[in-house]
Amino acid sequence: MRSFAGRDILSLKGFERNEFFRLFEIADRLAPIARDRKRSDLLKDKTLVTAFYQPSTRTRLAHEAAMLRLGGVVTGFSDAKMTRAGDFYQESIKDTVHMLEYYGDVIVMRHFKQGAPQEAAKWASVPVINAGDGWGEHPTQVLTDMYTIWKEKGTLDGLNFLLIGDMRMRTMHSMSYAMAQFDINATYISPPEMSLLPEFKEEIDALNLNYREVDHVKDAIADADVIYMEPVVQPDYTKARDERSGDVGLTPAQYQVTLDVMKKARQDSIILHSLPRMDELLPEVDGTRHARYWEEAFNGVVMRMSLLASVLGVME
Ligand code: CP
Repeated sequence: MRSFAGRDILSLKGFERNEFFRLFEIADRLAPIARDRKRSDLLKDKTLVTAFYQPSTRTRLAHEAAMLRLGGVVTGFSDAKMTRAGDFYQESIKDTVHMLEYYGDVIVMRHFKQGAPQEAAKWASVPVINAGDGWGEHPTQVLTDMYTIWKEKGTLDGLNFLLIGDMRMRTMHSMSYAMAQFDINATYISPPEMSLLPEFKEEIDALNLNYREVDHVKDAIADADVIYMEPVVQPDYTKARDERSGDVGLTPAQYQVTLDVMKKARQDSIILHSLPRMDELLPEVDGTRHARYWEEAFNGVVMRMSLLASVLGVME
């Protein structure tokens, strides 16, 4: 297995199954620190730099919480408009990263431009973690999702995944790469204009992912072990910021999970949603035995602890 020490985490394409399990094991070992709301001194000499060119609640704060739980410190920006990249100068990723690499030991970057973290990694002498790049990928979210499923089901093999939402979404790309490493049957449901792009289908075909596409959640809910959701009422992920203006529309019933839909689901099926949500996943489902998105919030900190400890070389 490749070492994580010093490694960039940019994509789940090519991430091997034993690497998932390695991060899960480290997460399990570190979880008590977060569960007991303690701080350790594992990363006491380390600094995390957060470079967020797009809004975030969970991803930035989960990385920051993870670093603080491990005794490190955090610096960075959550609004590029307050930096030289967001004003008159439009400072390049290369020039920005050549500064940031001296301010900390690992950089976590979210960017509206697909491939921006890869570009940053070319210039940074410290590890770069992709916190979501345009429509591209969101590897740390999907590592969190897979860890949550593994904790709940005890395995990732032999499961039926039902994926509902916008298939151009970065989580759906990382999730598809991840599923290809396991014995998983995937069913995708999306509006036609948000379906898997032909070039992405070629990629998952090449990875031998077992998948099908159906039209309505009711056609597939009964077989699902894992229901994985994203909105279909979405902002434009190629923009630094997409303000809501006017009526954004409602989610059609075939892409919605409701209490009524869940009556047809398996008793032990679980629902994951990376959040934020619109009306595709109704709050009436939150109190059911199926909901696991709040567990994901806790696991999101633990998985980022595992990643930071691993890429900074303090846990192997
Ligand atoms: N799931 C996710 O990426 O959430 P944020 O946009 O709040 O980081």
